Amino acid sequence: MTPRPIVIDTDPGQDDALAILLALASPELAVLGITAVAGNVPLPLSESNARRICELAGARDAKVFAGCPRPMVRALTTAEEVHGQTGLDGHDFPEPTMALQPDHAVDWMVETLMAAGEREITLCALGPLTNLAMAMVMEPRIRSRIREIVMMGGGFSDGGNVTPAAEFNIHVDPHAAQVVFTSGCKLTLIPLDVTHQALTTPARLERFRAIGTPVGRACHGMLSFYRRHDMSKYGTDGGPLHDPCVIAYLLAPEIFDGKHVAVEIEISSEKTMGTTLADWWGVTGAPPNCTVMNAIDDAAFYDLLIERIARL
Ligand code: BDR
Ligand code: CA
Repeated sequence: MTPRPIVIDTDPGQDDALAILLALASPELAVLGITAVAGNVPLPLSESNARRICELAGARDAKVFAGCPRPMVRALTTAEEVHGQTGLDGHDFPEPTMALQPDHAVDWMVETLMAAGEREITLCALGPLTNLAMAMVMEPRIRSRIREIVMMGGGFSDGGNVTPAAEFNIHVDPHAAQVVFTSGCKLTLIPLDVTHQALTTPARLERFRAIGTPVGRACHGMLSFYRRHDMSKYGTDGGPLHDPCVIAYLLAPEIFDGKHVAVEIEISSEKTMGTTLADWWGVTGAPPNCTVMNAIDDAAFYDLLIERIARL
């Protein structure tokens, strides 16, 4: 089996951390590089957190690049109220010692995609879409090299998590999202509607702890901190584990369900800025541009995640 080449664009974030660990633990995937973007935390933390996670996984040879420090048009908003001041609160990580790659993430992405064959590389987007959109603006020909873009973002019947209408990743950089959603690339979206079904229940947390390895304990610590905010917000028995769903989709697409529909990004009204508007019933006649997932087999998702984390 030839591993599927992927790039992970990310703003870690505890749930980003679990997604990166899942990818690094999975032989079906070849992580070509990890590109950091400003989002949950400012760029200096998101890039150093990406290196912390690689070191935790024993993947010191992974390539981590720093990308854009702010959204394309709007001012950066971060999410320390969810993730803590470090972005990875709940586990004490040492300072990373592996080097940050010297290239800008967007330069590296463009160079890597231009050197690839047609529809060769899959992009996994776990944060605001700034780096991806900047790369597309800089070199539109990269679009033909992209096999698929799988993103965590948006919310439909579940509404938004930062405004009544908008989800964090899209809301932080809606203009970047607009570039990506009009790119013509194959798009797959994992919205809040799915991730709110993938809760970190006490029994699931215990399974991470019971792995008994440093990585298992780190996951248990991070998720124990991370679930508090959303449990009190939604009144649920756990927090939604967003970003690992993107990687799980690549490994086990059969545990997800969704529909190919037309999705637009709202960028003109302040109240609904960053809303993902899905034409679920085809009422506009607009051509579908994105497969939007709306269901997950959450038990199978946690079985996969825990089995893979235990390999590290
Ligand atoms: C998304 O926003 C971030 O807080 C998470 O890491 C996830 O990517 C959920 O809205
Ligand atoms: Ca994220």
